[in-house]
Amino acid sequence: MLKLTRADFPEGFLFGAATSSYQIEGHAQGGAGRTHWDDFADTPGNVAGAQNGAIACDHLNRWEADLDLLRDGNFDVYRFSTSWARVMPEGRGAANPEGLDFYDRLVDGLLDRGLKPAATLYHWELPSALADLGGWRNRDIAGWFADFTHTIMSRIGDRLWSAAPINEPWCVGFMSHFMGQHAPGLRDIRATARAMHHVLLAHGRATEVMRDLGMSNLGAVCNFEYAVPADAGPEAKKAAATYDGYYNRFFLSGLMNRTYPDDVLEGLGPHMPANWQDDMDLIGQRLDWLGLNYYTRKLIAAAPGPWPGLEEVPGPLPKTQVGWEIYPEGLYAFLKRVHDGYTRGLPLYVTENGMAWDDRLVNGAVRDDRRVAYLDAHLAQVARAAADGVPVKGYFTWSLLDNYEWNVGYDPRFGIVHVDYATQARTPKSSYLALQRALAR
Ligand code: FCB
Repeated sequence: MLKLTRADFPEGFLFGAATSSYQIEGHAQGGAGRTHWDDFADTPGNVAGAQNGAIACDHLNRWEADLDLLRDGNFDVYRFSTSWARVMPEGRGAANPEGLDFYDRLVDGLLDRGLKPAATLYHWELPSALADLGGWRNRDIAGWFADFTHTIMSRIGDRLWSAAPINEPWCVGFMSHFMGQHAPGLRDIRATARAMHHVLLAHGRATEVMRDLGMSNLGAVCNFEYAVPADAGPEAKKAAATYDGYYNRFFLSGLMNRTYPDDVLEGLGPHMPANWQDDMDLIGQRLDWLGLNYYTRKLIAAAPGPWPGLEEVPGPLPKTQVGWEIYPEGLYAFLKRVHDGYTRGLPLYVTENGMAWDDRLVNGAVRDDRRVAYLDAHLAQVARAAADGVPVKGYFTWSLLDNYEWNVGYDPRFGIVHVDYATQARTPKSSYLALQRALAR
């Protein structure tokens, strides 16, 4: 059981669950175009077992039952994403009518069940045809993304509760172009600097398009990792600050302060696109809310070599299935810090939080007591922030379903509902049942 219930949160606080298109829908179906994740997965060594999102949770065909789970779990809101390649298989030009119909029905299905639809335009499945043109390295992507935004939002924008252009710009920019861990799998500082800026430019253009369509409640979703110096020395302190800069402050500063932090520009500045400063008004335009995705902290040590000159070292705290330390206090710290230092009164949402475990189905049930404890501990930090005056207005758990966890494939189970990939049977875990109880009105 969860210790906290709805009653421990301010009036009107919203509870939701989150998913994303490529991770659950089944991308080989319904006329979707090829994506850079299909290409990445087909290249040996990139993804555990070379697994991809071809079938995933077959949500494309099972969405009604999945939405029933949300309704029956007493959730208020559902955060889903729209696949660019499903809507526009070549990334530009002709739309796929089946794709548009799918999201249209999904939104109506949510409203029919009394759920608020919270859409994210891009959760990482770049159409391969655009990757061929340089993907996020190419400045033109902002215009392509604006066109995609117009196409999908002309169809569903009138019924959404909220919308955000990009999920986790850090993953799109840094993790995918500097660390090589996500598609397109580059390890190139120049590509990184460009992608990090262009992803925010695309955010800005998409936001403009949505405002022009008359949409409201538009936000941005960033991910945050609490950086801790690995030891007490000055080198580790500087390394942790550098990590904090390119992970946590770069996008926040761009969106809220219309500039990038000096310590990040020390590394990325020489590689930024020319005249990037001229884009900052578009990037920093008014938002209605900011979403924080939070999972873990990292211990950071200095390391030899060029910028950023650091490395992650293993920490002592209990870890999840994917090796992430469990550190709930970091969620409080970020809610406070983002509100006090950047957003100053803007509504905040925790748009993702959850954990992976090797959950097993035993006699028809999945006892994920660790996840219940994880959720309880993090919800307590959210309630604490709210009590301290941070305008945090909602919390979404990641994820409704076990799903395709990118480069680590299907083994890590992040869902509150278990998925048997052989039969596609869904089994609510203890955490789902605990939330259902805690959220009952
Ligand atoms: C976030 C992603 C989401 C999922 C979780 C575990 O960074 O937004 O798709 O992979 O991590």
